[in-house]
Amino acid sequence: KDISLIGVPIDLGADRRGVDMGPSALRVAAIESRLASLGYTVHDEGDLVVRRPSGYGAFGPKLKFLEEIGAVCDELHRNVSSAMERGRFPLVLGGDHSLAFGSISGVLQHKRSVGVIWFDAHADLNTDETSPSGNIHGMSLALALGIGHPKLTAIGGVDKKIDPSKVVIVGARSIDPGERKLIRELGIKVFSMHDIDRLGMTRVMEETIDIVRDGTDGVHLSLDLDGLDPEEAPGVGTPVIGGMTYREGHLAMELLSEAGCVVSMDIVEVNPILDHRNKTALVAVELAASLLGERIL
Ligand code: ARG
Ligand code: MN
Ligand code: MN
Ligand code: MN
Repeated sequence: KDISLIGVPIDLGADRRGVDMGPSALRVAAIESRLASLGYTVHDEGDLVVRRPSGYGAFGPKLKFLEEIGAVCDELHRNVSSAMERGRFPLVLGGDHSLAFGSISGVLQHKRSVGVIWFDAHADLNTDETSPSGNIHGMSLALALGIGHPKLTAIGGVDKKIDPSKVVIVGARSIDPGERKLIRELGIKVFSMHDIDRLGMTRVMEETIDIVRDGTDGVHLSLDLDGLDPEEAPGVGTPVIGGMTYREGHLAMELLSEAGCVVSMDIVEVNPILDHRNKTALVAVELAASLLGERIL
């Protein structure tokens, strides 16, 4: 089995600078050799080229860096698609979460129907109309559903979008009013931190897997490190108190690994500038290894 590592050094979807160094942090945390030790052939495809704007101040208030992010997602969708065409598992190293609709569009070129697990403190279901920040990393799941600015939803083809009944958000604890409305309207399944506390991660993941696997031919896992508690993953730009523990995240990955349904993955929002000695990237590598089959014995 082969894995393609695709680095996407983008921070234009977020307000805090530095998440563009995420791919480096993950490589320094030895993601390649760790996955190779599990028996994979790992192809590090390097980083996509992200155009650096001349000034960070010069953007519209509602959709910051629309053009630049659109170009990166368009290129990413082609890279993910070609990795899958060669039978490889695309592992996208972010970068902020705006990249996810590019990777999901790429997966959709190969699968008729794709389930999505969105591990995150946030829902990332804003549009340019509902966003409180104008940051596209808060809009990427909506875009993957075909909701949002037409310039972005056009990427990958307007007919290749995710069915909202095949999406599960896990770990949410910070949802904006417009997102809440969309979740209700579309009936998107959310396991909030409240649900994880009450039901336990085992049951949450069993139910999640049932939803995303049923009637799909593959599952995309989008792992935003801010889903974990900031104590365990401090290197993120939008930390929210009260997140998943490392053990809960790890268990979720092992259960997903056993289910064997994940065909592609993003690791996003790792910001080494805000981190402590690369802790967050090291945690991310642990989680990816568990998802891809690492076990204690
Ligand atoms: N909901 C907020 C916004 O739209 C924060 C989004 C944070 N997203 C993320 N991928 N970290 O700006
Ligand atoms: Mn996110
Ligand atoms: Mn988040
Ligand atoms: Mn482990």
